[in-house]
Amino acid sequence: MAERPIETLNSPDAVLEQTLRPSLFSDFTGQAKVKERLEIAVTAARRRGEAIDHILLSGPPGLGKTTLANIIARSMDANLRATSGPAIEKAGDLAGLLTNLNAGDVLFIDEIHRLQKNVEEYLYSAMEDFRIDIIIDQGPNARSVPLTIPRFTLVGATTRSGLLSAPLLTRFGIRERLDYYHADQLQSIVTRSAGLLAVPIEPAGAMEIARRSRGTPRIANNLLRRVRDYAQVRADGNITGPLADKALAILEIDQFGLDEMDKRILEAIVVKFGGGPVGVNSLSVAVGEEPDTIEEVYEPYLIMEGYLNRTPQGRIATELAYKRLGLKMGTGGQGRLI
Ligand SMILES: Nc1ncnc2c1ncn2[C@@H]1O[C@H](COP(=O)(O)OP(=O)(O)OP(=O)(O)O)[C@@H](O)[C@H]1O
Ligand SMILES: [Mg+2]
Repeated sequence: MAERPIETLNSPDAVLEQTLRPSLFSDFTGQAKVKERLEIAVTAARRRGEAIDHILLSGPPGLGKTTLANIIARSMDANLRATSGPAIEKAGDLAGLLTNLNAGDVLFIDEIHRLQKNVEEYLYSAMEDFRIDIIIDQGPNARSVPLTIPRFTLVGATTRSGLLSAPLLTRFGIRERLDYYHADQLQSIVTRSAGLLAVPIEPAGAMEIARRSRGTPRIANNLLRRVRDYAQVRADGNITGPLADKALAILEIDQFGLDEMDKRILEAIVVKFGGGPVGVNSLSVAVGEEPDTIEEVYEPYLIMEGYLNRTPQGRIATELAYKRLGLKMGTGGQGRLI
């Protein structure tokens, strides 16, 4: 059983990510409805003196799933044990984890969609009845002994909730999906992070970084750090709007916050598939990314920003998508250079 690998915890970026991670609901910006529902559940469980229901947090990378898991544990005054789907290799590993929990503890399983089937099935009775069967002895003497485990809370995180089996999904009493952040929310996050890093920043500078962060706090914090470097080396350290713009241009960060895969997806739909409609499987082959990842990680952002429409026939590129690619919406959906 492995916790998070040590080297990722010690790398400078990971250390900074820890520093910038909000530890209270009140520091967590955005996701207002999710936050409110979780706070209510936490408060109610605390009043009853019970462990909180199992919680599944889903959504694209870097939107705050791990952060929320930590906040939940902290506001329950509970210990958090963190592991991840791929790190639990055998049912025995999971049994070891479960039997070491204290009542009320939070067991955080990141990338829960990557649990092995037999481990997942083992989790069912633990989640539902707080009971597991452990196998004692080997060979002909092997026998299974039921064991009661403390009432714990499982917090699962996944970028791919579509890959979770129905039995696992339904065992989570609380299921919340995180969405991309709006620029003004990211602006507050950047401003807060700049304060923690003691970096002087103007509102316009924070907004420039926010706009170009693909709706994602982790990207916003990363860009802030890169822009801070630029400001210290090429200017007086103060992050203004024009300075952030220059720094991000040097870093070749898209003006509109799109990343490489976003652009590949738009380009494929527009150029290869004449603007669509195109099914996710054809698109997946064209861009070399798994269909589920396209649907759960990339499309939501492209749809939110108005580049794509999802119809029963497939994905269709909007006029804005053509514009971003420097193409004009032509006859028969064929893009042509302006
Ligand atoms: N709502 C928020 N307010 C302020 N900062 C946030 C918020 N959400 C995320 N962050 C920042 O973004 C970073 C990434 O968040 P987090 O690690 O929780 O994402 P994640 O959803 O677990 O991503 P992954 O799927 O890659 O594990 C955190 O270190 C934190 O600093
Ligand atoms: Mg995480």
